[in-house]
Amino acid sequence: MIEVRNLSHYYGEEKVLENINLTLEDGSFTILTGESGSGKTTLLSIMSSLLQQDKGEIYYSDVATSSVDQFRNQYIGFIFQFHYLIAHLTIMENIKMVTKKSKEEILVVLEYLGIDNLANRYPSMLSGGQRQRASIARAIINEPKYLFADEPTGNLDSKNSKIIFDILRNIDATVLVVTHDKSLIEKEDRVLEMKDGKLC
Ligand SMILES: Nc1ncnc2c1ncn2[C@@H]1O[C@H](COP(=O)(O)OP(=O)(O)OP(=O)(O)O)[C@@H](O)[C@H]1O
Ligand SMILES: [Mg+2]
Repeated sequence: MIEVRNLSHYYGEEKVLENINLTLEDGSFTILTGESGSGKTTLLSIMSSLLQQDKGEIYYSDVATSSVDQFRNQYIGFIFQFHYLIAHLTIMENIKMVTKKSKEEILVVLEYLGIDNLANRYPSMLSGGQRQRASIARAIINEPKYLFADEPTGNLDSKNSKIIFDILRNIDATVLVVTHDKSLIEKEDRVLEMKDGKLC
């Protein structure tokens, strides 16, 4: 479970997050939406401990973030809008960089995502949707308990976007995903909306 309590954040004088409170249950899937500049990336960055908050606490299964530097690499996965795969490494090599798992174990994950046949290609030799699946593979290879995705389908067509969302819905982790695209939201999804730094 992740609990965010009384979280506020400033960039200089500008208050970008104001007293955020939220709880994500273990294994849940949650969509975070809201207009540009409302604070979604800032919230995700703080929740994934890429950025230190100014006020408030975040608890991961009752452990406060201030004590989780080690914990971050082990338990948190992050997917960015632009995939950040390393261009001169193959998909397999990109994933090998972040894990002690064997090639066989990596292939199992690639197969789950439908890209095992592309393991030896370089990122530039994949389509946008395939590359995004490769970055999901890299984010989940160490079986994170918590997975954060910031606009993971920002540059994909609607068919590939839906495939990525269905993958994220079915991953065995606590998932928080940011999107602008309301057409990706399904009836049973939990949706949080941000407005001017507040959850509404
Ligand atoms: N490093 C920074 N320094 C100063 N201000 C920042 C910084 N990063 C973001 N901001 C400001 O904080 C506010 C929230 O930005 P944030 O990136 O969290 O919004 P967002 O909801 O993710 O927007 P988008 O949908 O466009 O990605 C914006 O007003 C932005 O200009
Ligand atoms: Mg953003």
